Amino acid sequence: MKIAIVYATNSGGTQLAAQIVAETFAKHNLTAEIKEVQGSMPADLKNYDLVILASPSWDYEGLEGEPHPDYRPFMEKFKGEDFSGRKFAVFGLGDSSYTYFCGAVQHLEDFVKSLKGELVTQSLRIDGFYLDQQKSSQQLTDWTESLVTHLNG
Ligand SMILES: Cc1cc2nc3c(=O)[nH]c(=O)nc-3n(C[C@H](O)[C@H](O)[C@H](O)COP(=O)(O)O)c2cc1C
Repeated sequence: MKIAIVYATNSGGTQLAAQIVAETFAKHNLTAEIKEVQGSMPADLKNYDLVILASPSWDYEGLEGEPHPDYRPFMEKFKGEDFSGRKFAVFGLGDSSYTYFCGAVQHLEDFVKSLKGELVTQSLRIDGFYLDQQKSSQQLTDWTESLVTHLNG
């Protein structure tokens, strides 16, 4: 199974989180390629059986709880693409002191739906990644483990 983890980050947290997810897949002999959202193209992502989208939540043009700005051109490129029957999963980093905690996750889920992709598991929302890295890592590991179980089922 080919897996891609597409991410964007401002302070490195989402990149670290992507690495934790990839390491967990590796323990199950599954290889996940980590890709920056910038430069990721529809034709390329169609080569993967599972695409995981990851983003922090951020302000964007006066709106709160938005995906990282690099997701804007990415989403534009994908307009009109058909990913019917293709598997996706989403995770986000955020901070529950903001009004729209992990708001980016909803945007990414809507994006997957617009492509007719299939969300294979409940999305993961990490609160304060750097505040308790051990807890955050555990949440990411548990989420990936359950994803693997689901994929094998
Ligand atoms: C300017 C700014 C705006 C943010 N807006 C939100 C938000 O609307 N919702 C949320 O849950 N977190 C918000 N956050 C928190 C970040 O998403 C969180 O710190 C995340 O871990 C950053 O991930 P990164 O290290 O990958 O950049 C914001 C942080 C900053 C600095």
